[in-house]
Amino acid sequence: MTKTALITGVTGQDGSYLSELLLSKGYTVHGLVRRSSSFNTERIDHIYQGPQETGRSFVLHHADLSDGVALVNLLREIRPDEVYNLGAQSHVRVSFDAPLYTGDVTGLGALRLLEAVRASGIDTRVYQASSSEMFGATPPPQNEKTPFHPRSPYGVAKVYGYWATVNYREAYGMYAVNGILFNHESPRRGETFVTRKITRAVARIKAGLQSELYLGNLDAVRDWGYAPEYVDAMWRMLQQDEPTDYVVATGVPATVRQFLETAFAHAGLDWQEHVRHDAKYERPSEVDALIGDASKAAELLDWKPEVMVEDLARIMVDADVKQVEDQLAGATVRVDR
Ligand code: NAP
Ligand code: GDD
Repeated sequence: MTKTALITGVTGQDGSYLSELLLSKGYTVHGLVRRSSSFNTERIDHIYQGPQETGRSFVLHHADLSDGVALVNLLREIRPDEVYNLGAQSHVRVSFDAPLYTGDVTGLGALRLLEAVRASGIDTRVYQASSSEMFGATPPPQNEKTPFHPRSPYGVAKVYGYWATVNYREAYGMYAVNGILFNHESPRRGETFVTRKITRAVARIKAGLQSELYLGNLDAVRDWGYAPEYVDAMWRMLQQDEPTDYVVATGVPATVRQFLETAFAHAGLDWQEHVRHDAKYERPSEVDALIGDASKAAELLDWKPEVMVEDLARIMVDADVKQVEDQLAGATVRVDR
């Protein structure tokens, strides 16, 4: 039987890869798109099916995680077998500038969706996009038993969403799980996250379009994986007999400086000739080191990452170099298709 899924955050990095994965498995995929004054569907334009098409397997709906009634109505209409809550104000630095908005959408938004599932009376499985940012100041390695100590309004909001998910599982017997995902990147990564900011700058410097790149803290350690592999872990979490929470990570640490070195070197450039410091990109409280232990996901989900940080940097540089070349040639096609 064809399964139906609802994805919030369908226009984001993970939403686009998860849509492709579920469509390839024969799902009918519904995506929640928030209203924007200009197009915000670039990552899913290649799988878009217009309202005039018959028998659509990919359907978009306007709604917002701040609007609980719209969520109930949408769930009643779609009656999905699986719900993936990927929608969020997901930028850590921005969350210090917009803490209440971040709390509302990223934290309370998760609760609104869970309550909407309950209120609509449907039988569905729920995935909550939890984050390694919840571990914050707690030293690595981090796994499912590691205590949380969030260091940003975003991290605090994600802790709220995490416990709301656990609570709905315990209180109402709902199949609701947290995927505690460590940083994952791709050519579709938002342009202001550090990896994409670096690989995009590499491509533009190589093409002579810019000469300097301003960054904040280069000493932070992250565990960077490849987004298409991480959405597969999300799907696996909803196919188990029992709901439980999982860490998803590579276990391989790298500093921002090491990512810089790899990315610039791949394009034949010396990062030290181009990178400048700007305190504007530092956070009032930083997360120094995130390194995940994903042995539970390996054992129970049979999930293992293949692309590690150095290959990831090269994949992203190649994609951005190609994108700049295409732009200079006057084309507008995406680079990662
Ligand atoms: P992303 O690219 O920033 O995508 C976020 C999505 O949320 C976008 O589709 C965005 O819409 C949507 N959104 C924002 N505000 C909304 C609102 N008020 N109502 C409904 N939708 C809203 O993030 P991502 O990297 O794909 O990450 C997916 C999820 O995993 C997020 O919840 C993120 O916090 C979490 N996470 C990510 C990572 C990572 O390393 N990527 C790690 C752990 C957890 P627009 O396109 O219109 O902005
Ligand atoms: N964005 C950004 N811009 N980060 C910088 C910069 C800069 O110019 N310079 C240094 N950094 C450092 C940050 O201080 C942080 O330590 C590290 O680079 C990574 O920053 P981001 O790429 O913005 O990611 P993040 O780790 O803060 O958050 C991402 O990962 C979380 C999972 O751990 C986001 O995707 C979150 O949504 C996600 O939950």
